[in-house]
Amino acid sequence: MCGIVGYIGTKKAVPVLIKGLLSLEYRGYDSSGICVLENNSLEVVKDKGRVKNLEENPILNTLNGNIGIAHTRWATHGIPSKENAHPHLDNSKTFAVVHNGIIENYTDLRNFLENKGYTLISQTDTEVIPNLISYYYSLENDILKAIAKTIKDLKGSYAIEVISPLLKDKIIVARKDSPLVIGIGNGENFIASDIPAVLNYTNKFYFLDDLEISVISKNSIEFYDIDLNKVEKDVKDIEWDCASSEKNGFEDYMLKEIFEQPTSIMETIGSRLKPNEKCYFDDLKIDLKDINRIYIVACGTAMHAGIAAKYAFEHFCKIPVEVDMASEFRYRNPLIDKHTLCIFISQSGETADTIAALKLAKSLGSKTLAVVNVIGSSITRVADYTIYTHAGPEIAVASTKAYTAQVVLLNILAVYFAEILGYSSKELEDFKMEILELPDKVKIILEDTSKIQEFAKEVYSQKDMFFIGRNTDYAVSMEASLKLKEISYIHSEAYAAGELKHGPIALIENGTTVIGIATNPNLVEKTISNLEEVITRGANVMIVTNQELPNINSKLNIEVPKCNPMLSPILSVIPLQLFSYYIAKNKGLDVDKPRNLAKSVTVE
Ligand code: F6R
Repeated sequence: MCGIVGYIGTKKAVPVLIKGLLSLEYRGYDSSGICVLENNSLEVVKDKGRVKNLEENPILNTLNGNIGIAHTRWATHGIPSKENAHPHLDNSKTFAVVHNGIIENYTDLRNFLENKGYTLISQTDTEVIPNLISYYYSLENDILKAIAKTIKDLKGSYAIEVISPLLKDKIIVARKDSPLVIGIGNGENFIASDIPAVLNYTNKFYFLDDLEISVISKNSIEFYDIDLNKVEKDVKDIEWDCASSEKNGFEDYMLKEIFEQPTSIMETIGSRLKPNEKCYFDDLKIDLKDINRIYIVACGTAMHAGIAAKYAFEHFCKIPVEVDMASEFRYRNPLIDKHTLCIFISQSGETADTIAALKLAKSLGSKTLAVVNVIGSSITRVADYTIYTHAGPEIAVASTKAYTAQVVLLNILAVYFAEILGYSSKELEDFKMEILELPDKVKIILEDTSKIQEFAKEVYSQKDMFFIGRNTDYAVSMEASLKLKEISYIHSEAYAAGELKHGPIALIENGTTVIGIATNPNLVEKTISNLEEVITRGANVMIVTNQELPNINSKLNIEVPKCNPMLSPILSVIPLQLFSYYIAKNKGLDVDKPRNLAKSVTVE
C-alpha cells in the first residue's frame, strides 16, 4: 500500500510526479505530497485526501526543480492528515523521505532518536527514517553510508526515496518487501512503486531487490547491496503499452478492464495452448511424478481463482489439491514437504501474506510456482518457477481481468500437468478446445449488458444479498460476493447452495436478493430447488445459467454460453462483475477506489 514516485532529469519534476501519483492512487488515497529540490533547498507540498487536492495547490506551479519525490498514502500509523502525509523531513530539513511499507520497530527507533535530542512531529512510523539518516550522517559524513546504516536498523518493509541538497544531483532509493522499479530514460530516470506510473516515458526497467540500494542521477544508475558492495543488474523490457494503463474512453478503469477480458484471456492463452498440440510452458520443468499434493495459496480474488481451478487439477491430474488463504497458511504449520507443489497466485506479485506463505513453503522444502501478473514483482523473485498471466496492467482496485486470466492460466496448467503425467483423453482434448473458445464466448456476454443494468437499478438500495451455487458455481459465487461488497458496500454472502438449509436460509425474507449460479448440468436441478426454496420465502432471484431451466419464478435469468463446468467461472463471473459495477454506479460510489482498500496489500 502507498505509492511512491520519483523523477530526476531535465524536465520540471512536478508534472511528472503528479501524473505518476494519479496513476498510483489505487495504492492509497488518504493523503499525498511532493518534495522538489528547488534552488538547492527542499520544497514540500502536501495535502489530505486525493491527489487532486494536491494538484490544485497553486504553490506547485511555482516549483521548477528537476529532481523530486512524491507519495500517495494508505494510512497505517497515524490518521490521514496533512501532518502525517509524506514526504517527511529530518529536524534539520536536510533529508526528505517518502516511504511505502511499515517500520515495525519504529517505537524503539523513535525513543532512540528522542534520547539523542530529535523531535518527531508526526504520528507516522516513517519520520524516524530521515532523522536516522541525519543522525548517521552526523557520524559518517557520507550520505550513502548513512542510508545503509539506517536501513540496517529498520525492521519491517520499506521502499524509500531520499533527496537532499547535500546529494545535489542524485536520488537514493532502497527497498525491502515493498515494490520499487526504476525506469530508464534518456538523460532522465524515473522511480515508481509500479510500472504503469512511468510507462508513458519508458519501457526499460530495473527491479530493485530486497536490501538493495540504488543511487540515481539523470545519466547513471548504480546499485549496491546493504554493505555497499556494487551490484550489477539486468535491464528488463516491459511490453505493456501506456494506452493499456489509460481509461480509453471508459468511465472507470473497472469497466474498461471488464471489457478487456476477451483480449486478456487470449493473451494469457498465448502460445501455451494450440489446437492439436500438447500444452507448452517455457522453463517449467517440475518433476510431477514426485508430487503427491498441491496447495494453492493466495488472498482475496486470487484465492477465489485458486478455488475455481482446483477442480481441473483434481479431475485431470488426480492429485489432491488444497486451497488456502495466505494469511492463514503462513501461521498454521502446513503439512508440506518436498513432495508438495505450492502454487501462489497474485496479480500484483507484492501481497505481503502471499510472499510470507511462499517463503514458508520454500523453507519447508516444497516446490514453489508463482502465477503472477506484474512482471518482475517480488513473488517472481522468490518462487522456484513463475508463469505470467498476460492481463496487462490492472488499475481498478477491484480485480476483474486478472481473476479470469488466473482461472484460465491455472486450467491450462492443469492440462499441462495431466499431459506430462500421461493422462491424455478425448475429454482433455475437448477441454483444450473449449479453453481456446473462451475469448469469443466472453465477447458474446459483453455484447449486451442492458438486462444487468436494469436489475442493478432495481436492487441497488438493498442492504444484503446472497450468492449461491454448487461446485465451480459456488467458487464463482464467492468471487461475485466479494466484488459486490468491496465496491458497493452492500453486505453479501456466498453459500454453497446445499448449505442453505443448514442455517443461512433463516436470513431470507421478503425482497431479499439472491443470485443463483447454475451452469453445471449435473447439479442444475439441485441448485434450482434451492432457489425455489428462497423464492417461496419471498426472495428476489436472478439466475446466471447456460442450461435449460425448469419453470421457475425468478426475476431475471442471464444466459451465458455453454462450456465445460470447470471453465464456467470464467464466463459466469462476467455478468456478476458488471452487476457489482452497476450497483456501485447507481449508488454514486467511486468504483475504482473503494473506501478503506488499496490495490496492493503490501502490509500484513
Ligand atoms: C479484490 C482484490 C483483492 C486481491 C487480493 C490479492 O477485488 O483485488 O482481493 O485479489 O488483495 O491481491 P494480489 O492478487 O495482488 O496478490
